[in-house]
Amino acid sequence: MPLYQNLEALHRERKKYLGNQCGLVPTMGALHQGHLALIERAQIENESVWVTIFVNPTQFNNASDLHAYPVSLKEDIEAIHKINPAINIFAPSIKDMYPEEVHAKSHAFNALDTVMEGADRPDHFNGVITIVSKLFEAVQPHYAYFGEKDFQQLQIIKNWVKTTNIPTTIVPCPIIREANGLAMSSRNELLTKTTRAEAGFIYNTLKHCASNGMKKAAIYAHIANAFAKHPAFTLHYALCVDEMTLKEVTEVNAKDNQRIFVATSVEGVRLIDNIALK
Ligand code: PAJ
Repeated sequence: MPLYQNLEALHRERKKYLGNQCGLVPTMGALHQGHLALIERAQIENESVWVTIFVNPTQFNNASDLHAYPVSLKEDIEAIHKINPAINIFAPSIKDMYPEEVHAKSHAFNALDTVMEGADRPDHFNGVITIVSKLFEAVQPHYAYFGEKDFQQLQIIKNWVKTTNIPTTIVPCPIIREANGLAMSSRNELLTKTTRAEAGFIYNTLKHCASNGMKKAAIYAHIANAFAKHPAFTLHYALCVDEMTLKEVTEVNAKDNQRIFVATSVEGVRLIDNIALK
């Protein structure tokens, strides 16, 4: 099993694949089918695949969220192994990724970080780019795979790659959902069974709004009504947004690459989801 738990071991191994087309899937572990779909795709499209498992402390806004984050390295390794035992896994320690202080560097994101998750979670995207940049530097991938589940993260990474001339192609991958429609997330494991089942209403609500030619005000009203019927879920935002700028649109228009985004908290767990307007 090619498992590397420090940078030195990774560098030594990475050198052996110099001529290969290399695909990277960065994760924080507690792998579910959403992650595995990214790994499966990377496996089809590349000669060598590198999955990183690292719960990045600098992208968490509070200590309790970080401490509650599920960890299951053994099961994660087994799940990756089932896809292909030759997949390289990099699971470093905090000291390895942050040898000096555990601190996020500040980045400029063309205002993509001033809305939604960026507005609610100060410094979150600085933490994400700090670690993604370290992982890109270590693995030097030709392709890197990211899920549309974290659409704002995906756009910020695309923007960062473009503005800093990083020679890696970012591959967006569709959202994988549980049977009731809830977007898969490692945090879903923290929900009680009843709440996890109830949370299916989030996607049903988005689906209704995305495909019925509704105006923006009607979409917001429908979402507010749906959440009012599920009082355990606190709605942080519901926004119709342009995919490129991540700015709220004045009018909804399915032809203009727009999406609806929501963020909610239930049982102390933050859930996000989004859907393209059709
Ligand atoms: P994590 O939440 O573990 O997600 C790793 C990757 O899996 C991300 O690109 C995320 O968008 C994707 N993913 C998660 N759930 C998904 C789903 N239901 N469908 C499709 N893709 C899904 O995102 C992070 O980790 C971190 O911020 C990271 C990029 C690793 C930096 O620390």
